[in-house]
Amino acid sequence: MSAPRTTTQVGIVGAGPAGLMLSHLLALRGIDSVVVDHRSRDEIERTIRAGILEADSVRSLTETGVSDRVLAEGDEHHGIQLAFGGESHRVDFQELVGASVWLYPQTEVFVDLANARDAAGGDVRFGVRDTSVHDLTATPVIRYTDSDGTSREVHCRYLVGADGSHSLCRHRIPAEHLRQYRTEYPFAWFGILCEAPKSAPELIYSHSERGFALISQRTETLQRMYFQCDPDEDVDDWSDDRIWSELQARVRPHGHDLVEGPVVDKSVLRFRSNVVEPMRYGNLLLAGDAAHTVPPTGAKGLNLALADVRILAEVLERALATNDDDVLDDYSRRALDRVWRAQHFSYWMTSMLHRQPGADDFAVRRQVAELRSVVRSRAGSTFLAEGYTGWPSP
Ligand code: PHB
Repeated sequence: MSAPRTTTQVGIVGAGPAGLMLSHLLALRGIDSVVVDHRSRDEIERTIRAGILEADSVRSLTETGVSDRVLAEGDEHHGIQLAFGGESHRVDFQELVGASVWLYPQTEVFVDLANARDAAGGDVRFGVRDTSVHDLTATPVIRYTDSDGTSREVHCRYLVGADGSHSLCRHRIPAEHLRQYRTEYPFAWFGILCEAPKSAPELIYSHSERGFALISQRTETLQRMYFQCDPDEDVDDWSDDRIWSELQARVRPHGHDLVEGPVVDKSVLRFRSNVVEPMRYGNLLLAGDAAHTVPPTGAKGLNLALADVRILAEVLERALATNDDDVLDDYSRRALDRVWRAQHFSYWMTSMLHRQPGADDFAVRRQVAELRSVVRSRAGSTFLAEGYTGWPSP
């Protein structure tokens, strides 16, 4: 007996923000989709991810009816602090480029999207097992086993891999059909959540001789902070006292003082830059982390994923309306333009602020001079503000 099958216009693997936002945007265009994910809804909700949304991301969420909460509960930030060389400097995005960013954790974006799909009767299947994808250059098929052990198939006109950096969809593309560009970084971030009031009203990006630190926030009583560490660092070697003394040592020389509290979560985040080109193979399209990852310093990951699917929804609509698969090449071309700008921006922020292992005094002094050039020049600060708040879509 063949497996029970569903037929849909667009099959989507991955129910993170990219997959759900795509499904939502397609539904608004009258295009049906089925989304599958091996994770449960609860598991995705419990994953701690980054927290900064560009103005365009906020606009997408509000204007398409996904979230009012981002405006009510998110925090609009008009700038950031750059702390280095014994001082802290504000980069005022509003004054420089007339734009803001919003502190609104990715988890909340996911919750809003999952609720919006529910409310619209969207077909999202969490917690599936043994997912595989087939016939990528013809009529793609997603096969999986559902929670009661039944094998199922989703047959679709187009398939989208929005299944994260380990993407099973990407792994199905024959090597000769894609190019991978990547770079590794010789450091990682030690991330904590702590129960304490805010230490500052905006994010502090701090350069220090001991390495980078980032002071971010979550709520009035819960804060998110990071400090640069070795990729092989063991979180169990870090007591609360040791964490706080390291964080304080990286911000106090520049005049900041952190409000301490119990550390309720700690983890090491390794990072790398990765891009695959093109973001299409036959009738498979890749979106978000499945196609590219960036180091978190520029807060670009989620924003890039949302920018991808804005373009993708439009391109899929055109391909379906004209029955012309060649239209799909447009997606890769347009999306990659922003992806590479974001790669450059994230790399630049990362290399300017982190201490390279074995860096000598010259290297550290040179970084401080670069940071001074940024804050003392309107052109320099504007470059940072444009990149951080997000470039307009071409
Ligand atoms: C965060 O709040 O988790 C966050 C903020 C800014 C970044 C990275 C992470 O650049």
